[in-house]
Order: sequence, then structure tokens, then C-alpha cells
Amino acid sequence: MTKSVYVGMSADLIHPGHINIVKKAAELGEVTVGLLTDKAIASYKRVPFMEWERRAEVIGALKDVAKVVPQETLDYVPNLRTYKPDFVVHGDDWKEGVQATVRQSVIDVLAEWGGELVEVPYTQGISSTKLHQAMKEIGTTPDLRRASLRRMLNAKPLVRFLDLHNGLSGLIIEKVGIDTPKGRKEFDGMWASSLTDATSKGKPDIEAVDTSARVSTLNEVLEVTTKPIIYDGDTGGKPEHFVFTVRTLERLGVSAVIIEDKTGLKKNSLFGNEVEQSLESIELFSDKIRMGKAAQQTDDFMIIARLESLILGYGVDHAMERAEAFLQAGADGIMIHSRSKTPDEIFEFCDRYNALPNRKTLVVVPSTYNTTTEDELQEKGVNIVIYANQLLRSAYPAMVNTAESILTHGRSAECDDQMMPINEILELIPGGK
Ligand code: SPV
Ligand code: MG
Repeated sequence: MTKSVYVGMSADLIHPGHINIVKKAAELGEVTVGLLTDKAIASYKRVPFMEWERRAEVIGALKDVAKVVPQETLDYVPNLRTYKPDFVVHGDDWKEGVQATVRQSVIDVLAEWGGELVEVPYTQGISSTKLHQAMKEIGTTPDLRRASLRRMLNAKPLVRFLDLHNGLSGLIIEKVGIDTPKGRKEFDGMWASSLTDATSKGKPDIEAVDTSARVSTLNEVLEVTTKPIIYDGDTGGKPEHFVFTVRTLERLGVSAVIIEDKTGLKKNSLFGNEVEQSLESIELFSDKIRMGKAAQQTDDFMIIARLESLILGYGVDHAMERAEAFLQAGADGIMIHSRSKTPDEIFEFCDRYNALPNRKTLVVVPSTYNTTTEDELQEKGVNIVIYANQLLRSAYPAMVNTAESILTHGRSAECDDQMMPINEILELIPGGK
């Protein structure tokens, strides 16, 4: 009788390593590929370039593959119990790192019916990680970048964004990552903050930096990064102007705009009631959302409504009424903002928001309730967490300290060891030599 062989893979960027494994598998019997779903892949590395259906089409076309089935988790066990294969074939590169425990559970479960794990020597010199790096260097397109936020939201329970204010801050968000026992951890995208953009231009956060200037910052960042961008649209301005902003952002490849339900001279939310701030009426703000949605050209772009009810002390009932109205008007999500030191009012909002039948993406900005962790937010159903100003706030004191040290000592030697060495700054950005 023909033996059955199971091969689990992501198959996002098919390379000779995959072909080699499938070929070896076919020598042992009939090959079923357990193709990891987008969610399964995103649980331990980046969201794949191609959606499951497309990856399935490619891998399924290989002559040695008899069948493609979804593998919903990084863990093989559920699928192996269903298909009870005689063999599992895998590259021998999973003995260490994130996948080592997955490997052990494969061996253990196969033993239940006398199945066997066959490991194929890893194809040297090529890997999807290397291909991914090479693709990053080639860059992205506005279409791919714009769509990437919705794809991430479909594949991950929570995504994390960090403030940008120039090309360099964008590069930091693009590149910084840490390796954890659960896989690589990075920022998923960038928040084009009005506060940090205005501040880095030496201006107050009152919509005085106009859209053209904000877009010029975006262009710096778009030039050197590939991750998705959420744009802080402040109040959105006049509805008749907002439609142009939507089109501009969409054309550039920005994934979403967030507009806040304030009117008149906008001040930064973190001032709360210390300054005069007033809310737009539900009707007029709903109209603005409707006009924005009607103006957009693609299905990918998102318009998210930001509620300032808690900022101005109106409470959760007030915020909920607005959340419902703005979703009704077509908003693709809600950002609930708070300047409280504790997450209590945010959590109460989350619980009530999650009960809405037409609940969509939920965004929070934990600047003041900053001891609340991502895990706690995810538990409360939050989909996007925005670290809205931390990059700029950390850069500024470092620069002031350096300036003071030079003044104090009449030279720069004393602050030299707090700074990046000259050869490192020269080589920080490739292509300078
Ligand atoms: C920003 O980053 O500009 C924001 C968030 O809008 S906050 O500063 O908290 O209002
Ligand atoms: Mg802002």
C-alpha cells in the first residue's frame, strides 16, 4: 500500500530548499502538504507575503504534491492526529530555536501509531529569511504596503506601532527587533504622530503643520521603509479638505488615517481639560467619515474614528454612543484615547465595545497608563497598540544632555561615550561610502 507522507511548510517564497524536501518526501509515498495558515505563520514570524489561497495554488502545482491542507497552528499535532501519516518530512534546521519544541512533539505524536520523522539536510545558502531580507532591500509598492495592515490584522490578534517623525525614526521601526523564545519580535508598523512630527519641526501640535508638510515627512519615511503606516489625521480638517487627504494618503501607500472627534482649534489630547477643547457633533463627524469613505479608491485603506470622550471627562457612556454612531457611518475601526494613569476606563470601554455586533478594529494609545502590558490589552480585545511618542521623547533628553555637556566642559570629550562612535554613524546608513 502507498505510504502517506506529511510535510508542513509556509511556502511563501518557494526556493530549491522546498523542492528538495518535497522531492525526498515523494520518494517515501504520497505527499500531503500541511500549509501553515497566515495566522499560524504570524504567530512566530512575519505575516507571509502571499495569502494562504495563493500559496496553496503554487505549492499544489508541484508534481510531487498530491494534496494541500491547512495547518492552523505552528504545532503539527492536531493535523498529524487527523491524517496519521507514515512519515513526516522536514529540513534538519529545526533542532534548535523556536521550532525545537514543535519538532519534539512531532516525534512524540508519531510514536502513537509508529510513524517516523525523516529529516532532510538543510539546503545551504538559501532560506526564506534571506530571501525576505533581499526583498526588503528591493522595497515595496504603495499597493502592497497599503494592504499590509489589513492582512496583519487578519493574521494577528494584536499589532504594535511606534511613532515616526523622520526617515531615521522610520528606519529604527523598520529594523529594530529582538529574538525571543517565541520567535522574532518587531514593531509591525509606524504611527505618523502629529505631536512628534510637529515637535520635531519646533511647532505646537495644533494642526499648524499643514498636510503638505506632514506628507513631506511621510515621503522621507516611505523612501526608506516597507512597514505599514497609520497617519494621525488630527481632526481631519474640513470634510471637503479631508477627502483630499484621504486620496493623498491612499496614493502614497499609507494604510489608515485616524481622525479625532474634536472641532475648532485642536490641542493635544494629553492636555485634557487643562485647555479649551470642544467635541464635534456626532452628526457632523459622521458626515466627515462618510465623505472620507466615499472618497477612497481602494478597499484596503482604513478610516478610523478616534474618540476624545474620556480625554474630556465625559465618561464611557458618552464614548460608546459615539463609537456606535461612527461605526454606523462607516468607520473601519475605533481608537479610544485616555489620559488616565490606570487602564480602568479603557478596559470598561473595551468590554462594552467588544459586545457590539458590528465591532471593528480597536486601537489604543497607552501613553499615560503605561504599566499596562500588550498581553493585558490583547486580552481586552485591543487590535492595535500605538506607542505614540516614545522615540522622540527618548531622543530629546539625550540631545539636551549632550548640548549641556559641551557647554559645561568647553569640549565634547566628556559626552563622547554617550554617543554613537563616528565610524558607526558613518556606516549606519548603507551606501554612504
Ligand atoms: C499623537 O501622537 O499626535 C497623538 C496621540 O495624537 S496624543 O499625543 O496622545 O494625542
Ligand atoms: Mg496627534
